[in-house]
Amino acid sequence: MFSANTYQARRARLKQDLASGIALFLGNQEIGMNYAGNTYHFRQDSNFLYFFGLDQPGLAALIDIDNDREIIFGDDVSLEDVVWTGAVPKMKMLAAGVGLREVLPLRRLTGYLKKARRSGQAIHFLPPYRHDNMLFLKEALNIVPARQKTAASEAFIRAVVAQRAHKSAEELAEMERAVNLSGAMHVAAMRAAREGQIEAELAGLVEGMAVSGGGNLSYPVILSVNGQILHNHYHGNTLQKGQMVLGDFGAETAMHYAGDITRTFPVSAKFTAKQRDIYDIVLDAEVSAIGMLRPGISYQEVHLATARRMAAGLKNLGLMRGDLDEAVAQGAHALFFPHGLGHMIGLDVHDMEDLGENYVGYSAEVRRSDQFGTAYLRLGRALEPGFVLTVEPGIYFIPELIDQWRRKKKFEAFINYEAVAKYRHFGGIRIEDNVVITDTGHRILGDPIPKSAAEVEALRG
Ligand code: GLY
Ligand code: MN
Repeated sequence: MFSANTYQARRARLKQDLASGIALFLGNQEIGMNYAGNTYHFRQDSNFLYFFGLDQPGLAALIDIDNDREIIFGDDVSLEDVVWTGAVPKMKMLAAGVGLREVLPLRRLTGYLKKARRSGQAIHFLPPYRHDNMLFLKEALNIVPARQKTAASEAFIRAVVAQRAHKSAEELAEMERAVNLSGAMHVAAMRAAREGQIEAELAGLVEGMAVSGGGNLSYPVILSVNGQILHNHYHGNTLQKGQMVLGDFGAETAMHYAGDITRTFPVSAKFTAKQRDIYDIVLDAEVSAIGMLRPGISYQEVHLATARRMAAGLKNLGLMRGDLDEAVAQGAHALFFPHGLGHMIGLDVHDMEDLGENYVGYSAEVRRSDQFGTAYLRLGRALEPGFVLTVEPGIYFIPELIDQWRRKKKFEAFINYEAVAKYRHFGGIRIEDNVVITDTGHRILGDPIPKSAAEVEALRG
């Protein structure tokens, strides 16, 4: 946890930004996996962590701006609980640790909110994503779950995004730790991978390292010889000579700051010439995208420039053709690069995605595209110092997509389908780092993680 001052300062700014009403924070609860008592790994809500720091289930909090009160709702554990799960500091002590004096039993929250509503106070809440919190909002505010997303407070969302988007020095130190552990996980996977292994052996190895670091994974491991499947969580394939492994995984620290790193490596000691050609296009795209990062540039512009750069590489190999500015403007590159260049990262791997991607990643000046591929860009707006984001270009050969586009004769002026057919079983390559925007440019977080083909092959040798 950071010091009490950090949480006090964050809440003070929020009060100033919101000006009136009640800001409600619902912590997360334990959730039963196969019966109530056998729970999933507990993960606290990131907004709750950011403003109230406390990392345990059974909590809620509010800032009553009109009456100048900050209250944590939660219960001291009973002696019976102590017998089963051990002693826990009293709520008063926990609250003091995050700079707050007032504690009330959790059962008092509904009454507090109902009374506030009767007296005409505005209750600001954030879009819920857990069903127990949706049920709570239904009970306390009488808004049915289907309406809660739109009824959530836009002012509250914007005030939270305005703060969480800019990482402080102490947050950046925590994020460096997350990236360094994530990097060590990638190096370990690159060293350990052997022909004949099941993907799960490597997935388990890196997951164990994340847990050993005192935190956890920041999202489910993607580790697959089918790198062309973007969010592929199947780990049952056997590694075979001539294939590549795409690993997209990262750790979150004990304080829940996330790393999100991707590397792609050959199962054999070296990339084949065909793999190396595509690898170098992706690497060049990643490095040049990072090189463009500075305050003021829009990430949509960086995304499109990166798409043009990869298209130029693909044209050199005979896979694309024609006027590449036009190809990218029309979206032809998305056959090979069907996702966005990256997203903000922080307490969440897709930072603040619960609050709504467009509030986090777009602005009045930069609107989200609705074109296939670029529409998946989660961050498009102009960059500001303190933003931390991922840079993750990739090139994929997705047989189903190739077949569909070819059948429809889509973008034939820009895509050489006969040449593409020779890559049908190629898979996919993505390379990803985490970068902070500084006052004058950018800095890649963490120690360098092997990335050039030569560095990767050195680990595979
Ligand atoms: N690491 C997975 C993603 O960014 O979607
Ligand atoms: Mn990512």
